[in-house]
Amino acid sequence: MAPFAEDNDLSGRSDISGRSDLAVVLRRFYEAAFADRQIGPFFTEIAGTDIEVHLPRITDFWERALFRTAGYRRDAFAPHAALHAARPMTAEDFGRWVQLWHATIDGLHRGPHAERAKAQGERIASALHRRLAGPDAPTEGERGPGFVPLAALTLRSPS
Ligand code: HEM
Repeated sequence: MAPFAEDNDLSGRSDISGRSDLAVVLRRFYEAAFADRQIGPFFTEIAGTDIEVHLPRITDFWERALFRTAGYRRDAFAPHAALHAARPMTAEDFGRWVQLWHATIDGLHRGPHAERAKAQGERIASALHRRLAGPDAPTEGERGPGFVPLAALTLRSPS
């Protein structure tokens, strides 16, 4: 009988292996994000995002981030600065984004690229939030209902 290796993945999930996997992850993630009560309105009401326009751009962004193969050359900060001016993007919003991102990846993949995608998403979310909110960002004591602490997510993710 073949021994089970420690790292055998009995779930049958494989790692994110390239652009076609990313395209599936991102469609699922943005469908969830658009439908989300907390962060959906940024896409549907404030930006009026066309998902079919957004998906190829964001796939380029992630293909470059994970595999260094796509030529994403756009300014990823600017649209968030515009959103933030229309409606402040809070720590709760970024926490929710990270929660959906982790759940989407965990539901589809497992492996080093999947871990890197989760860790990078979390890092970029924190960086975006810091840059948008600045030193006056509401902290611990000012959490609203449904707050997902970024620190807790950091502890949970084995990056
Ligand atoms: C609460 C969190 C976030 C919200 C609500 C949000 C929402 C949006 C919206 C509405 C746009 C504009 C889409 C359009 O063109 O209509 C956008 C663009 C973009 N977002 Fe986010 N975002 C969030 C966090 C993040 C994070 C953490 C990342 C990266 C890991 C990210 C990556 C991008 C990129 C790369 C674009 C620019 C796409 C382009 O080239 O035009 N976003 N986001």
